[in-house]
Amino acid sequence: MTRPRVLVTRRLPSAVLARVEAACDMDLYDGADAIARAELLARVRGVDGVVCLLTERIDDEVLAAAGPSLRVVANVAVGYDNLDVAAARARGVVVTNTPGVLTEATADLTWTLILSVMRRVTEGDRLVRAGRWAGWALDFMLGTDLRGKQLGIVGYGRIGRAVGARAAAFGMRVAYTTIGDDQGGVSLDALLSTSDVVSLHVPLTPQTRHLIDQRALARMRRRAYLINTSRGPVVDEAALAWALREGIIAGAALDVYEREPVVHEALIGLENVVLAPHLGSATIETRTAMADLAVTNLLAVLEGRPPVTPITGGP
Ligand code: DGY
Repeated sequence: MTRPRVLVTRRLPSAVLARVEAACDMDLYDGADAIARAELLARVRGVDGVVCLLTERIDDEVLAAAGPSLRVVANVAVGYDNLDVAAARARGVVVTNTPGVLTEATADLTWTLILSVMRRVTEGDRLVRAGRWAGWALDFMLGTDLRGKQLGIVGYGRIGRAVGARAAAFGMRVAYTTIGDDQGGVSLDALLSTSDVVSLHVPLTPQTRHLIDQRALARMRRRAYLINTSRGPVVDEAALAWALREGIIAGAALDVYEREPVVHEALIGLENVVLAPHLGSATIETRTAMADLAVTNLLAVLEGRPPVTPITGGP
């Protein structure tokens, strides 16, 4: 029996790759950077399955280049705005993602950012390294207490709820809003105008692109902080830079950007923003679990079984 051909677009943990190799003829793109578009289009030709990352745009052009043999695209990420789900469906290709396994790591990173910006840790780190610390003083680099404040969660799925579950430990109360469904909570406007910290946990869809724009930022409290560990384009970065510069809000902490790995240059020079390089799920345990789940999905489809975590929604 011929073994299925699979393209893996980036190195995964070796134990996970071994599972692919045991069952398939694997073509591994092993470059340090994301696979170039032309190379992706060339190497995908005639494969039965693809394991890809959020750095690859899998659209109809890629699906067409793969041809009719393609049965499954397994994304090593929970977010799947890099996949054209409708195009895959139209071609009968199953698409999968990795929900669940990265929830806790991403919630932990969200709190890392909340604490970093409210207690000015990265700003202080820069100051110490620059040799500009003159010593302890009563009024030096004062941050903001978390206790007694309101955490506003935008998007109340797995990760939003996990972030909310940690709030009691810091003495914060939680408000939430849902976007695109009617599962309750308060309105976005009410959440923005009453929260001391606003944390974003929505997928990137046409509805959430620039959800946080100049108008939304202007609704926030002047002492409030914005945290984004979802997808960069949910926030209008130019508007955010304006809000941070003009004191419309107190600070922000970002893990994701509109044009990764490029960060809006107006943000780079601001002290009141923490800039992390898309680390939400970046722990050894979690990244291994994500890769493993993607491969479980891949092999299930190739072996004629239903995948564990198919993408069922749009867009
Ligand atoms: C995801 O899974 O969508 C994250 O952005 C990367 O872990």
